[in-house]
Amino acid sequence: MKILVVGGGGREHAIIKAIRKNPAVDVIYALPGNGGIAADAVCVPVSATDIGGIVAFAAEKKVDYAIVAPDDPLALGCVDELEKAGIPAFGPHKNAAVIESSKAFAKALMKKYHIPTARYRTFTRMEEALAYVDREGAPIVVKADGLALGKGVTVAMTVEEAKTAIREMMEGGRFGASGSTVVIEEYLEGPEVSVLSFTDGNTVVPMVSSMDHKRAGDNDTGPNTGGMGTVAPNPFYTPEIAERCMREIFLPTVKAMNAEGRPFRGCLYFGLMITKDGPKVIEYNCRFGDPETQVVLPLLESDLLTVMRAVTEGRLADTEVKFSDKSACCVVLASKGYPVQYKSGCPITLPKTGEGREIYVAGAERRDGKLLSHGGRVLGCTAVGDTLEEAVAGAYGVADAVRFENGFCRRDIGKRALDALKK
Ligand code: AMP
Ligand code: GLY
Repeated sequence: MKILVVGGGGREHAIIKAIRKNPAVDVIYALPGNGGIAADAVCVPVSATDIGGIVAFAAEKKVDYAIVAPDDPLALGCVDELEKAGIPAFGPHKNAAVIESSKAFAKALMKKYHIPTARYRTFTRMEEALAYVDREGAPIVVKADGLALGKGVTVAMTVEEAKTAIREMMEGGRFGASGSTVVIEEYLEGPEVSVLSFTDGNTVVPMVSSMDHKRAGDNDTGPNTGGMGTVAPNPFYTPEIAERCMREIFLPTVKAMNAEGRPFRGCLYFGLMITKDGPKVIEYNCRFGDPETQVVLPLLESDLLTVMRAVTEGRLADTEVKFSDKSACCVVLASKGYPVQYKSGCPITLPKTGEGREIYVAGAERRDGKLLSHGGRVLGCTAVGDTLEEAVAGAYGVADAVRFENGFCRRDIGKRALDALKK
């Protein structure tokens, strides 16, 4: 089989490594992939947002199955266009990807179908948004409506901070069209849990839960990033919480999308907060999370390609999806200065990794046989262990064996989860 994977980050590398295990796979094309992914797939310089280019390439190579991993091509209708060209693809159609690409849509959906989430209001006029913040007070959360690379959210601890964020989004044009509508919502408190799920529009199969670490610095300080590390499973996601999530959130969301005429097929990601009133949705993503995928897929015992095709063909109910009961940890090595200002082109030397260890390459290119950093997040150093403690130690063992002088990582990935397990 010929498989095409759209995207070129650590998440795509993890997907490609999992797909490769299927003996029916002859070749994997990554569009565009990266210098590290090139060790596991044929990288082709077509941008992940060049939908016409992707479809043309897939048709020319007679690709059997495509996997569209990032949010942008999904929002642009990449799956729809591939299908029109006769190529089955993993991922939601454009009309379902809106669950991530418009926060205003997602919030309205939850309100209409009584899915627990933070109270909110949507604004298109700045003066009204500012007046609302004055009435509600702080802490309060301000979000740009569209895709803003996970950076369009301000958790404001003061009214002034909230107003500055609103002005920047609605007046300063910091997020372009993404900021012309803002969602202002109630501040929630509690541990965060990421749950990725497979769904074919009828059946929902949650994957092992995980915990992201979004801030750049240790002890959750510094600016928000795309994610500096992950662990799985997430100890705050107890069997009771899982059962409640299925009943109150997962199934109702899938049914709501059907009722809206937007059936969702693909990976539906639930970003949850476990508040004192129970689990609530912070965000939906219409795709695998990054770097959640880098800890979830190493624990998947079933064949990923088989599960994905069952999703696409609506056969998920008859397909086994089994996860190991081990733990995994991914420590991200990023370029110094990320997410603000950093340089690319710094040399990286990867160590040999043993059993249960992987290095997923998120941002690197290969030049004259050398691997050079390219981008903010560069590597995801991952280990599987019998316990979370072993997994965390293993991941840091891998990270510390990498030679990348311009790199840094958080030193406390997994600490919050380990502390919770000790209680
Ligand atoms: P989002 O892009 O919606 O996932 O938001 C990014 C981060 O902002 C989340 O992971 C949370 O840590 C935080 N956040 C978002 N919404 C809220 C909220 N209503 N209350 C508290 N924190 C929030
Ligand atoms: N790690 C969060 C995301 O993929 O959006």
